[in-house]
Amino acid sequence: MDHFNLKDGVLHAEDVSLPAIAEAVGTPVYVYSTATIERHVEVFKAALADVESGPAGPLIAFAVKANPNRAVLATMANMGLGADVVSGGELLRARAAGMPADRIVFSGVGKTAEEMRLGLTEGIFQFNLESEPEAEMLAEVATAMGVRAPVAFRINPNVIAGTHAKISTGGSEDKFGVAYDRALAAYARATELPGLDIRGVAVHIGSQLTDLAPSRAAFEKIGTLIAELRAAGYSIATADLGGGLGVPYDPAKPVPPLPAAYGAMVSEVTKGWNVRLVFEPGRVIVGNAGVLLSRVIRVKQGVTDPFVIVDAAMNDLMRPSLYDAWHDIVQVSPTGTAMTANVVGPICESGDTFARKRVMDSVEPGDLVVFKTAGAYGATMANTYNSRALTPEVLVNGDQWAVVRARQPVEALIAADTLPPWI
Ligand code: LLP
Repeated sequence: MDHFNLKDGVLHAEDVSLPAIAEAVGTPVYVYSTATIERHVEVFKAALADVESGPAGPLIAFAVKANPNRAVLATMANMGLGADVVSGGELLRARAAGMPADRIVFSGVGKTAEEMRLGLTEGIFQFNLESEPEAEMLAEVATAMGVRAPVAFRINPNVIAGTHAKISTGGSEDKFGVAYDRALAAYARATELPGLDIRGVAVHIGSQLTDLAPSRAAFEKIGTLIAELRAAGYSIATADLGGGLGVPYDPAKPVPPLPAAYGAMVSEVTKGWNVRLVFEPGRVIVGNAGVLLSRVIRVKQGVTDPFVIVDAAMNDLMRPSLYDAWHDIVQVSPTGTAMTANVVGPICESGDTFARKRVMDSVEPGDLVVFKTAGAYGATMANTYNSRALTPEVLVNGDQWAVVRARQPVEALIAADTLPPWI
């Protein structure tokens, strides 16, 4: 469900026409809908209404990596969400957006001592540790600061999530978490270390999950582990179940499970755990809340199908070139006729292809198109390859809209390079 709809034959974000935004800001540009973000937060909260999670209720910590724009984060902060961060930069962004430190969890295999110090200074809710050496470093940092660090271990349950290999994280050979069979040893080691407060367990098996069975299997293993840890004398007060719920991209594929089905599964599996649950949703909140708006530069004849060359490229939206991901491509002012085309960007490699042999609305040079479901892992993964400026972002709210990241001038890119004295 989203708020990008045709009005009088022209695609709008809520009440704002996309051609008006293209005219004012130029293309390519990401456009987000506040109403869609808010709706998805409400849907996710409602899905968790029946889970047992103690008096404070579940902590919903938005995975900042999915969309770190400060205005987007602030929209969620206003709805009571916290943040799952994986770097000092994300932690600072979440704080700058008004997310309280005690709603922030810090994940990631490579936290540095400096990032740990930042997390401790801010007073975050919990560090999700991914190894024993990481626990040792955090213990040292906390002790030197004279504070205690609240920690959970992220457990690698050795459950294959059934998603794209590059975003699957719960297999025993993946770099993430402490192997399930080593968990008790890791907690024992952490207990010996000064400065750590063991709070709980964490798990996250992958992203764009389209089947609940692997998550259920992972959570069941976590339930067993919580019992084992308690039997061994550890006090376990939190269980962080990660993120990962998929969203629909390709209309020809089955719709992924809805948050309500996910919530019902969680509620069933976690009954009696007697913990505060933490969730780290990313894509399911913002995926459908954004589109990448782009203009067709020209249409070039191909041997079989034409090439539609648009002004967005793989640097603006990396998902198709990285994961062969599908994004629907629709005309902003559709004429009702269709064409089969290869949709490509201007970058000088064949990987700069958004779609091959795509049956889509007919387009001509100068027409506007959108890449749908681009609100998650879109702008945040953009880069400046081919010396293209970083993609700007616009947030719509009803009939209002604002640029929430300005187009960076190419001159700023050039000025960031400095010449050494010998040239
Ligand atoms: N928690 C942890 C520890 C994670 O690593 C991730 C995503 C999430 C939560 C949020 O997952 P979500 O609910 O968004 O699925 N760039 C890729 C996705 C990478 C996901 C990385 N981790 C893509 O464009 O598909």
